[in-house]
Amino acid sequence: MSLVYRFKANQPNFTHVLQDFVGEVLPFAKRVNNPLLVAPMVLLKSIEWSIYRWHKTPIRRFYGIKSNELLYMITNACNDRCPKCGIWERPEPKSQHLMIGHFINCLKRLHHNLYQVTLTGGEPLLFKRDIVLIAEEARKLGVPMVTVTNARLLDEAFLTRYKELGHVLVISIDSVERSKWNEFRGTPSFDIVMPKILLAKKMLGDQLRIQSVLSKESEQEIPKVAEWCRQQGLQHNVQLYQDFGAYNWSNAITQKEMVDDGTPCAARKNICIYPNGDVVKCFDHRRIPLAKEPLGNIAKQDIIEILCTKRSTEVSKIMKTCNFPCKHMSCNKPQALLFR
Ligand SMILES: C[S@@+](CC[C@H](N)C(=O)[O-])C[C@H]1O[C@@H](n2cnc3c(N)ncnc32)[C@H](O)[C@@H]1O
Ligand code: SF4
Ligand code: SF4
Repeated sequence: MSLVYRFKANQPNFTHVLQDFVGEVLPFAKRVNNPLLVAPMVLLKSIEWSIYRWHKTPIRRFYGIKSNELLYMITNACNDRCPKCGIWERPEPKSQHLMIGHFINCLKRLHHNLYQVTLTGGEPLLFKRDIVLIAEEARKLGVPMVTVTNARLLDEAFLTRYKELGHVLVISIDSVERSKWNEFRGTPSFDIVMPKILLAKKMLGDQLRIQSVLSKESEQEIPKVAEWCRQQGLQHNVQLYQDFGAYNWSNAITQKEMVDDGTPCAARKNICIYPNGDVVKCFDHRRIPLAKEPLGNIAKQDIIEILCTKRSTEVSKIMKTCNFPCKHMSCNKPQALLFR
């Protein structure tokens, strides 16, 4: 998911600075109980904001991370049925799907400290219009964006706009051979999707990447995918199979080997949003007792307030030394280790 990106778009403008100021000072003013103290406290807060504004964003000041990746699992719903993945089995009810405006606000609030926003799912392109809205906003705010997709719903209009916006598209491929492909996707989609991938390659060029999942079931196929990518001139990343709640595939590398390999987890940089707006620090947060419950919900609270709570900062500290197999997920690795 955390997929290397080198594009830097527009710089933030005056409106964004104003939004940042109001977004920080207004909740502060509301917390001052004595009405006589509101004006002097707001003045002091404004001085503090002005001093720090040019050095560190609020999220960095309170939260202590140099730069963040904002990951949005826009939906659990999917139009494929991959046996490796259990996400599609639990689509969220319509009533629990976050309104797009809440996510856009969240992006605006965090953009100063983001090096990337990543959209995943389920299948993100089921919400193609929202993806374009987010992509446009990200471009305005100067935040690079990555969308991870199974490519079934790609079309020329989407690719044209996505290309213009300069973002990266990652397509998941675990085999380049028809029968294995169809088995791995749980749907006979090879003949529908392969031409779309070739179209995406033609239209997006270097903005297209490929990601594969390595498991016992796919280990014969991944070298063939890697070779195909090499021939096509596409960057390729391999993610180790993890527990996504499906239990149909098995690890090619033991859990012990994954844990004992001496690499740290880089997930502290992450701010993850579930389809209903719940905020967590990594999608495997349930492994950390203090992080089991979401930290908040962006439909009900400001994201910076959520991230500045005592529990959020405690969870972030615990994550410094956290060591589970999920550290091998692309989104939990340092950028430099992805896509070769
Ligand atoms: C959950 S999918 C969502 C996006 C989109 N539906 C897709 O398949 O690209 C995000 C990434 O996770 C990968 N993935 C799925 N199941 C996995 C598992 N059990 N372990 C590791 N990665 C997995 C997918 O191949 C994809 O690259
Ligand atoms: S891996 Fe992606 S395409 Fe496959 S079922 Fe899961 S969400 Fe859908
Ligand atoms: S090891 Fe897993 S649970 Fe621990 S912080 Fe990293 S991603 Fe989260």
